Amino acid sequence: MSPPISSSSSSSDVIDFVVHKGNGVKGLVDTGLETVPEPYIQPLEERLDPTKFQPENFIPIIDVSNWDDPKVVDSICDAASKWGFFQIVNHGVPLEVLENLKSAAHSFFQLPSEERKKYLKENSPSEAVCLCTSFSPQAEKVLEWKDFLRLSWVSEDQASAFWPPVCKEEALEYVKKVELVTKRLLEALLKRLGVKEIDKTTEYKLMASPILSLNYYPCCPSPELTAGVGRHSDVSTITILLQDDTGGLYVRGTSEDSWIHVPHVTGALVINIGDVLQIMSNDKYKSIEHRVIASRSKNRVSIPFFVNPGSDATIGPLPEVLASGETPIYKHVVFSDYFKHFFSKGHDGKKTVEFARI
Ligand code: OGA
Ligand code: NI
Repeated sequence: MSPPISSSSSSSDVIDFVVHKGNGVKGLVDTGLETVPEPYIQPLEERLDPTKFQPENFIPIIDVSNWDDPKVVDSICDAASKWGFFQIVNHGVPLEVLENLKSAAHSFFQLPSEERKKYLKENSPSEAVCLCTSFSPQAEKVLEWKDFLRLSWVSEDQASAFWPPVCKEEALEYVKKVELVTKRLLEALLKRLGVKEIDKTTEYKLMASPILSLNYYPCCPSPELTAGVGRHSDVSTITILLQDDTGGLYVRGTSEDSWIHVPHVTGALVINIGDVLQIMSNDKYKSIEHRVIASRSKNRVSIPFFVNPGSDATIGPLPEVLASGETPIYKHVVFSDYFKHFFSKGHDGKKTVEFARI
């Protein structure tokens, strides 16, 4: 039998196999392909230029063993306003929980393709779980070299009932622990915005509907031609990312068109500010552009925990931020509209936030 995909396959055959038949990039790589198919080849201007790299030591690493220390709060808030990106260590999520989760992500993507396909949107038993590929295949011009399993956090009962057995326990254990980290981070960040206590309404706007995503970037024959994830900022309030030691995550640097690699630090969690917090803080905190490039030799996993508002929450600059008469930069928008807008186009850097600008 001839392989389903070969170097002579047309673009539409590739898209059909990966997207419509739900084999994903993982399925594509498993066919033994040795070159990058056309639908994955980025235009020159979207390829990462290695001459534009800046040194890694820019990104702050913050020890949060004492969350209540005002110096720790200062470091978090400073990093969030200057960079929108930092790493935290001694955050209280045990190393074992982190390692188990990364292994579980590998285990899911190593399932036979027929098993994985049970979680495609059209087959999935629940909206709480969905296997996807690329970013928004219907909307983007070039596909991204990534598959992901989206686990929406509604309740423990939902997760227990529907998340795949191969990664359920590890994901649940992690979510319970990382929720505490989320609360601590948001308390620190909002204190600086003049919010004394996060009440139920604010909590709903900040963190009611988190999503845990198990991202899988299979080895790529020519990563320099492709994007694992294209340039974007996250639409979340904040994102807490666990990455492995493969490397490949870059954030926008300080000089024009430069990029900074985010090094793997054992036990650390990478934090980035999302558009929602940029909007709520009226630009005190900034979401920063970042991107991922796959590896030639290792299957990379990363696991972002997207801390998102409730889908019907209305987001806009917080009253506390505007209390001193500051002019609002953003209008109020319903989060689900913002979210839909994000997925209605390919990744396009920092443009999503324009949707909410006055
Ligand atoms: C994302 C993302 C980074 C990574 O999923 O939004 O930016 O390292 N991921 O996988
Ligand atoms: Ni991101």
